[in-house]
Amino acid sequence: MSAPELAGKVAFVAGGSSGINLAIARRLSREGARVMLISRDAERLRSAAKLIANDGGEVAWAACDVRDSPGVAAALRTCVEQFGGLDLVISGAAGNFVAPATRLSPNGFRTVVDIDLVGTYHVAKHSYPFLTKPGASILSISAPMADRPMPGQAHVASAKAGINALTRSLALEWAAAGVRVNAISPGFIAETEGVARLIDTAEKAERLQRAIPAQRLGSKADVAELALFLCTARAEYITGAVIACDGGWSLAGPSVLDAAG
Ligand code: NAP
Ligand code: COA
Repeated sequence: MSAPELAGKVAFVAGGSSGINLAIARRLSREGARVMLISRDAERLRSAAKLIANDGGEVAWAACDVRDSPGVAAALRTCVEQFGGLDLVISGAAGNFVAPATRLSPNGFRTVVDIDLVGTYHVAKHSYPFLTKPGASILSISAPMADRPMPGQAHVASAKAGINALTRSLALEWAAAGVRVNAISPGFIAETEGVARLIDTAEKAERLQRAIPAQRLGSKADVAELALFLCTARAEYITGAVIACDGGWSLAGPSVLDAAG
């Protein structure tokens, strides 16, 4: 039997206590990576870490708000002290709610930009000094509304467009140092908080499913497999890419959500 692909690697997963990011953390762990999870709520982190440990993985966690720059730096230092280094960074902490621009307060707009975009910057910025070994990779989680507007999502679209620009900028600056920087743009992923906040009735969910070119919502495993690939040496020449994992949703016209009602 071949060795797990990420044996000996250390992964830091921001927003790793639930949903897509936790699925990625579990996938990297099953491939041999030791994993550090951060997010705000200690109880949710404890439960998430237990899942990974029960699968046989080595895991640590720290409660930390990605808006807190010194807090993110401290969590990364803890990760490096505990596991002896850092190789892979997943940056997926995010907040979302549906609010048309007319009902979106300046603080509501700023809050989402602070969590998604500024938080992603904090994670990348404070990770970089530790990413000194070959194979280093930063992977952020974007969303299709970065390019395809969706009603009620001006704040999220702006934040995620910023993440795409940040991904390309850091990839350019850090490629020579051997640090790859990419992003995944998941479409509608089933059984997640993100979809629960956007699609609030069974009827809407059914119509959405038919409107997605692949005729189904994505799964957390769909995204986790792509994340794993991007974290491995198989992707060593890929940097600055924002890769859709959306069943064709972003190709399908102005807004399939409108088509779905
Ligand atoms: P989720 O389960 O709510 O995951 C969000 C994570 O971020 C949680 O662990 C949350 O934990 C953490 N978080 C939120 N605010 C934070 C903060 N200020 N500091 C640190 N951690 C924070 O949602 P999800 O739907 O799986 O989304 C995961 C990622 O995928 C997000 O980046 C989202 O934008 C992206 N995405 C999702 C979909 C989808 O279909 N679900 C589609 C496109 C993109 P705490 O609340 O405990 O801090
Ligand atoms: N509609 C309009 N405005 C809203 C809102 C909604 N549904 N929910 C929050 N806001 C506004 C608040 O009113 C506040 O603005 P104000 O001060 O002008 O009133 C601002 O957003 C900040 O809200 P607050 O609750 O203080 O922020 P927080 O930092 O505690 O929480 C959120 C951040 C709002 C993003 C919260 O939903 C969250 O923690 N989400 C994480 C989980 C998640 O969203 N998962 C899906 C990921 S895709």
